[in-house]
Amino acid sequence: MNYYEQSKQTLDSLKDKRGVRILALETSCDETAAAVIEDGRKIISNVVHTQIDLHAVYGGVVPEIASRAHVMTVDAVINAALEKAGMNASELDACAVTYGPGLVGALLTGVTAMKAYAYAINKPLIPVHHISGHICANYLTFPELEPPYICLVVSGGHSHLIRVEAYGKYVLLGQTQDDAAGEALDKAARVLHLPYPGGPLLDKLARTGDKHYMKLPQPKIDGEYDFSFSGLKTAFINAAHKLEQAGETPRDADMAASFVDAVVSQLAGKAVLALKDTGTHKLALAGGVSANSQLRERMTAEAEKHGFKLYMPRLDLCTDNAAMIGSAAYYAMQNGACAELSLNAVPYLPLV
Ligand code: KG4
Ligand code: ZN
Repeated sequence: MNYYEQSKQTLDSLKDKRGVRILALETSCDETAAAVIEDGRKIISNVVHTQIDLHAVYGGVVPEIASRAHVMTVDAVINAALEKAGMNASELDACAVTYGPGLVGALLTGVTAMKAYAYAINKPLIPVHHISGHICANYLTFPELEPPYICLVVSGGHSHLIRVEAYGKYVLLGQTQDDAAGEALDKAARVLHLPYPGGPLLDKLARTGDKHYMKLPQPKIDGEYDFSFSGLKTAFINAAHKLEQAGETPRDADMAASFVDAVVSQLAGKAVLALKDTGTHKLALAGGVSANSQLRERMTAEAEKHGFKLYMPRLDLCTDNAAMIGSAAYYAMQNGACAELSLNAVPYLPLV
């Protein structure tokens, strides 16, 4: 029996087992992360090594630097995850890795490392979609959460409204037609001279500002559940330049509050619409931008107003991590996912 046939057989036998422990690796962007997850729900260990310092001087992620940094740290991060779990490799049931979407070089580092690792310890490898990982971060925070529900995925690279029909079964309701929400927040932060990644700093600054200061346009979009942040971003940049040219004292906090509010309003409006139209009573948030305090407050208020149940991942599970990949891997395994040794990185991997 070759490695793939043996992996298939092992994963089949794990479907009904309790206490399935998966070692997961995430390297799709600028975090090298490894975690051990039990039965898709319980974090045994979770190690995240961020490269933010390496990229901050350039004002954004430099793909080539990201790949190299992953190569340098991947072994240490995997070993740290096992050590924190108090386990050795032979006690694992399976391995998992993010194979897309993301930066191709960064993904390749993780895929290659995990293929070699899984083969060396003779365990099956489960390929995981990064967005599926973000969605599953909710299962690690809420043991009682079960599909169906709607998930608003908002990260640096993605803005999706998804109906989760069953574990790992997704229907795409809408997505951004241009920039992702996180990308727009990072760009607005840059205009306000905040260092990379600007999202969290913009969040902090906005908390002290007046959101009524600037009137920003809400886009007109054809797709009912689609988003658009590019026009909003351009309007913000133009307004900022005009204020600068007019020699006005910058009101950065008010500008930040106005921009964040415009982004949050669009996200909230579309999410509530999708809940109503589909008759769904559960909304989950996911992705780096779901750590945003204004978004969390606004969605909490919307949940009270419209009577739906709101799920938001623990703050450290909103941004990239491997715990979420370990959770998604467990459900991907239940759906029959199994990697061959030819597994490749897929930078534009669609979710559905
Ligand atoms: O999910 P993530 O870690 O990586 C991607 O898959 O893209 O998301 C990173 C994005 C960045 O744009 C970052 O600025 C944004 O999430 N972000 C935030 C906050 N924390 C992270 N944006 C707004 N407020 C925050 N608190
Ligand atoms: Zn992500």
